[in-house]
Amino acid sequence: MKVAKVGETDQKLISKLIFNTVVPRPIAWITTVSNEGVVNLAPFSFYNAVTTKPPIVVVSIGKRKDGTRKDTGRNIRETGEFVINVVSEEFLNKMVETGNDFPPEESEAEKIGIALEPSLMVKPPRVKGVPAALECRCQEIVEIGDTPMDLVIGEVVAIHYEPSILETQKGIVGRLGGKRYCIVREEINISDLD
Ligand SMILES: Cc1cc2nc3c(=O)[nH]c(=O)nc-3n(C[C@H](O)[C@H](O)[C@H](O)COP(=O)(O)O)c2cc1C
Repeated sequence: MKVAKVGETDQKLISKLIFNTVVPRPIAWITTVSNEGVVNLAPFSFYNAVTTKPPIVVVSIGKRKDGTRKDTGRNIRETGEFVINVVSEEFLNKMVETGNDFPPEESEAEKIGIALEPSLMVKPPRVKGVPAALECRCQEIVEIGDTPMDLVIGEVVAIHYEPSILETQKGIVGRLGGKRYCIVREEINISDLD
């Protein structure tokens, strides 16, 4: 077993260790709309739910290499609204594609051919066919880290869901280290083990 003391270890290794040890991470596939009306879609795995009453989620959105805000972060700052689409197996490749750099005036969903449908409470649409989508309003943005990243704290105001997701999460995609992903294939219900 090795140990890496933060501050005395190359930052590249520290980042790699975080990406490879905090796993699997849920993926927020986020739709937003710019002030100009362009729909943006991109994945984020520094993401989790932190309370249920009210339901609150956090997403950490970084900057591009040139120091500018990613479209998702800029759109949330400008409009205060976003939708988190839950990624299932059939969307894995398309979700990864939306992680590539697209200019702000181009819609990833349109370019890649991802069908969208309207949301109930917020302007950004949701991805058609995903097992669940969380409509969110930004409550607060906390700048965090050296970059700094935008830690977006969002309140969930409506949840679209396939009723089957309450019984099983099989087929849902998670993020591992590097470019690796996982898909839920086996679920162990602890009460079944008695
Ligand atoms: C599975 C996956 C997870 C990602 N997670 C994050 C993340 O948590 N934070 C982040 O800033 N970028 C993350 N990225 C990179 C962004 O998706 C990428 O920078 C994207 O181009 C941002 O798009 P936008 O400028 O349209 O918002 C992730 C990419 C992938 C493929």
